[in-house]
Parts: sequence; C-alpha cells; structure tokens
Amino acid sequence: MKLTAKSVSRVALVSTLVAATAGAAVLVAAPASGAASTLAAAAQQSGRYFGTAVAAGRLGDSTYTGILSREFDMVTAENEMKMDATEPNQNQFSYGNADRIVNHARNQGKRVRGHALAWHSQQPGWMQRMEGSALRQAMLNHVTKVASYYRGKIYAWDVVNEAFEDGSSGARRNSNLQRTGNDWIEAAFRAARAADPGAKLCYNDYNTDNWSHAKTQAVYRMVQDFKSRGVPIDCVGFQAHFNSGNPVPSNYHTTLQNFANLGVDVQITELDIEGSGSTQAQQYQGVTQACMAVSRCTGITVWGIRDSDSWRSYGTPLLFDNYGNKKAAYTSVLNVLNSGTGSTGPTTTSSSPNPGGCTATYSEGEKWSDRFNGNVTVTGTNNWIVTVTVSTPQKIIATWNTSPSWDSTGNVMTARPNGNGNTFGFTVMHNGNWTWPTVSCRVA
Ligand code: G3I
Repeated sequence: MKLTAKSVSRVALVSTLVAATAGAAVLVAAPASGAASTLAAAAQQSGRYFGTAVAAGRLGDSTYTGILSREFDMVTAENEMKMDATEPNQNQFSYGNADRIVNHARNQGKRVRGHALAWHSQQPGWMQRMEGSALRQAMLNHVTKVASYYRGKIYAWDVVNEAFEDGSSGARRNSNLQRTGNDWIEAAFRAARAADPGAKLCYNDYNTDNWSHAKTQAVYRMVQDFKSRGVPIDCVGFQAHFNSGNPVPSNYHTTLQNFANLGVDVQITELDIEGSGSTQAQQYQGVTQACMAVSRCTGITVWGIRDSDSWRSYGTPLLFDNYGNKKAAYTSVLNVLNSGTGSTGPTTTSSSPNPGGCTATYSEGEKWSDRFNGNVTVTGTNNWIVTVTVSTPQKIIATWNTSPSWDSTGNVMTARPNGNGNTFGFTVMHNGNWTWPTVSCRVA
C-alpha cells in the first residue's frame, strides 16, 4: 500500500459540488432522505430521537406546548420524577405531576426518558437523614416502586445520576448512598431491571464529555466493569451542560465512541450551551455532529425549550428564545440532523453508473477525534477518474492507492489508478465538520 501525504497548503473557499461533466456519473447524495423541518422528524431519519426536558408547571402555556408538540419526540420530566417528588414521605408515593408529563407525552406518541431513580441530590428530607442498611433498603424500595409504577412506559431510565466526584480524583462522590457500600449503583441497576425489564437502564452524569478527564475515565471503567460482570446497564447519559468555562471538548466524538464501544448506547441527555449567535450555533453543531457520527448515539435531549424555561436562563442556553422563536443554534442542529451523517444511515454512497461508465462507492473507514478515513471502490472500468469533494473546513491530508491531483480550492481531489487496483482511500481532517465526502466517477 502506497501512502502519499498531501503537503500542499490549500485554502478552502467553496463547498459546492463540482458539476458533473459530460459523460461523468451523477452523484447520489449522502442524506438518508430529504430535509425535514422539525428536530424530531430530522432526527428520525437516522433512527434517532430529539427530546426536551418538560416542566409540569408549564403545560398550560400554549406557546410552550405548541413547540413541544411540533419539535420533540422524547420527553424528560425536569424535576417531577426525582426522588423528592415521587416519594415525599417514606413509602408514600406521589405521581401527580410526573403523570401529567408522561401522559402529555404519550398521548402525542412521544416517548419518555425517566429521570432519575437514585441520586445524592433532590432526596426527600426523610431520606437525606438516613444512612447505612436502612438507606440502602429505602433506595432499593424507591427504585423498585417507581420503576414498577411506570413499567412499560419508559424508554430509558436514568437509574443512577451523578455518582462521581468532579476534579482529578476519579473517585465516587461521597454521599449517603455511597456510604451504604460501593455496590449501591449496581444494586440499583439490578432492582430497576427486575422492576421494568423493557426499559433501557442508563448511568447519567455531567463533566464526562472530555475523554482525558479523570471523571470520564472513572465512569468508563465502571461501565466496563459492569459489562464484564453482567450488571444490567444499557446506556450512558452525557448531560452536556456547556458554557465558556466548560466548552464542548474537541474530543467529544472520541468520548461517545469509546463508551459505545463498550456495548452500551450513548445519549446526550440534558444539552444546553450558554451563549448566543454563531458561536453558540457552532457549539450545538459540534455536539450534534458528534452524536450523528456514533451509530450507538441514539438521541439528543435539550434541557428545556425556550431560554426562559432554562434552569440557567441568564445564559440563554437553549434552541428557542424567550418568545419561542428559533435561534441560530436551532438551525445548525436541524441542518446536521438533516445531513444524514452518521452510521445508522447508509454505510456507503455511490455515484450512479452511466452506460458503459463506472460506479464509485464511498464507504466510511476509521474515525478519530480529529479525522476520519474514507474508502472508494470503483466498478465498471479499470481506467477511472474519480472526483472526491470535501466540505469546508475539511481537508484531505493523505491518500493511498491512487495518484491525486487537486483543484485550486483544495476541496476537490481528482483520483486516478496508480497500479494498486480499484479501491483507494484518503484521510480527512474534519475540523468540526463530519459531513461525508461526495464522489463521482468517469471513464478516462
Ligand atoms: O417549584 C418551586 C417553587 O414553588 C419555589 O417557589 C421555588 C423556590 O426555591 O423553588 C421551585 O423549585 C425549584 C425547581 O427547580 C423548579 O423550578 C427548586 O427550588 C430547584 O432546586 C429546582 O432546580 C432544578 C435542579 O435540577 C435541582 O437540582 C432545576 O429545575 C433542574 O433543571 C435541574 O436539573 C438538573 C438535572 O436534574 C440533573 N443534572 C443537572 C441539571 C441542572 O442542574
């Protein structure tokens, strides 16, 4: 295999496709289907969902419920399914507000993420005062009763929320639940599985986005251990609360992919990004692209609808402004969802064969945090010319099994055989854009 590093510096100016020249094959575009006009419909094209946190107290607001109906197909109760809400007195359960949200969602065909069965925070007063085996029993009773009550109605439960320390320790958070014994998390998962065998069971946390952070590594090791010992865990939730002090990390895709490689789904569960305008839109784009690039990233939930609905409304972190208007961030998310980029869509794209011509088929190769490989296989002739076009700001940095030449923008590579057969490959620095390259073929 011959590797040719492309060292010419190139300025990417255009992102439009090169028009097919006479006799050239016509490109089949990458999206799985046409552009959709809502977040849910766009996400569904790749088999994903797009959800939001919902507060029962806002269900009387018609602007709020209008956007909810139109844009989202997954719902998380923002506070109403937490321990203090559902078990205010020991063994006396209260589901009024939670039911309001669950019924509102299910009546509209939306699914529900359950949040959260066991957590050090938002415990009812009686539980905050407990320790030891009494607390362990009370926690397991809570998990069993609540998950049983909602059996069959929950797509995924956040079984345990936020059980690890921030910072560099990689340790479990010191809480009354942790003090009942290190096995409290797996005990909660087993109880949840027994109570609702049909629900996906997730571990959910924040500050687990950067692959090199100790907390991310610690959660990863726990999930790895659970999978190796058969503890019933199906998914990991990444809350994804970002701001300028805690921006979307450049290795976010690596984090999601590495967790997925353990054999669990990954979900972005509480997304919000403080900021405004194009800066905020770009960050939302990056998060959405990272999910779309991981086949086991099954969906994204934003933590509220309008900025004014947010737990940190001062940071205007959501996709709709206070009046319910779509923000630039909304458009960037919708466009990425519509791009169909992601491995649950087609794994290849082909140019259409023209009579007596050739077909070039693109398939995904390996992916890393900053780059990905693509392969192109040509059929119909041994004497081909394949045009590969990448989108700004992507750059092709290496090729193999072909002799490439370039247009002045550097976005368009013309590939010819170099004696190594009819399959060639290349490496793309994605620079935040995971859109697939497009290919077309003609006979030389
Ligand atoms: O509803 C009462 C209201 O009657 C009362 O007047 C008012 C006075 O304090 O409090 C209101 O309740 C507040 C509730 O939000 C509803 O707005 C609680 O005090 C407040 O603590 C609660 O905050 C929630 C927070 O979790 C509690 O931990 C936020 O809404 C909610 O968005 C936030 O969500 C968490 C996730 O569950 C886990 N991950 C982090 C995320 C953000 O902190």
